[in-house]
Amino acid sequence: MRVGVIGGGQMGAGIAEVCARSGVDVTVVEASDERAERSRASIEKSLDRGVRSGKLSEDEKSAALDHLAVTATFEDLEGADAAIEAIVEDEQLKRDVFRRLDELLPDAKFLASNTSSVPIMKLGAETKHPGRVLGMHFFNPVPVLPLVELVTSIMTEPETVSEVRTFAENVLGKQCIDSQDRAGFVVNALLIPYLLSAIRMYESGFASKEDIDQGMVLGCAHPMGPLRLSDLIGLDTLLAVAESLHDEFRDPASVSPALLNRMVEAGLLGRKTGRGFYDYSK
Ligand code: NAI
Repeated sequence: MRVGVIGGGQMGAGIAEVCARSGVDVTVVEASDERAERSRASIEKSLDRGVRSGKLSEDEKSAALDHLAVTATFEDLEGADAAIEAIVEDEQLKRDVFRRLDELLPDAKFLASNTSSVPIMKLGAETKHPGRVLGMHFFNPVPVLPLVELVTSIMTEPETVSEVRTFAENVLGKQCIDSQDRAGFVVNALLIPYLLSAIRMYESGFASKEDIDQGMVLGCAHPMGPLRLSDLIGLDTLLAVAESLHDEFRDPASVSPALLNRMVEAGLLGRKTGRGFYDYSK
């Protein structure tokens, strides 16, 4: 099986790594040669970490790399059996990608999006075959977290869902839950209002960021506090999901705090840019 992964950032690189480690041939398409190089380097670094921690042998690492191709040429996807889109959370760019995927891969079994906030139906509507379009929502870091949300639009065919479930569970070793095509799907509809509340709490001077995070780690046994988790998700992605939740449900709990808007405008997007609520540059 050969899978195309479009976008090789935090999520796309993780998805590609999991595919390659599962013996699936994977072609990652990035927006430029420089970004393609960066994506390959981050996958190699993650595999190296796996070797250092004893989760992976040197042989398994080189076998995974043999399954991996990274490119900046979209047409290199030709002949892929399936595609998973994981580009930046921008509706228009994603629509363009789906239109091009549909044309380039007429025989692909499924075209999935890892989007956190764009309705799957809007992506399906760009194609001539909306029945094979669905959401495959992975969690960050992809090699570590077992969950995939399978998101079906009103046009997704049941055969597509069972095909993707079998692929995610039996080939990639993930565990799936099902969600309708509603903003936030299951997990973010619950998680994002909580993260926004933590940002509002910090913004109002109610408590320090360290104490907010410590509170949830030590008091609720969360592996990471809400501000660190926001940095890990990426503040641009968090903002996009908050806006989609607010558009759909009009719940005041999903209104983005001014601080989050300002940080995104300033390019302080969290771990991926080296600075968010915390500094990761060192
Ligand atoms: P990111 O900013 O790390 O990566 C996005 C990548 O897309 C960049 O490397 C960029 O160069 C590339 N890109 C942009 N336009 C492109 C194009 N036309 N063709 C090919 N590549 C293109 O973002 P991240 O965090 O990886 O998010 C990607 C997607 O995954 C978004 O839809 C996001 O909502 C979703 N997601 C993010 C999660 C997270 O925790 N960050 C969790 C689950 C889903």
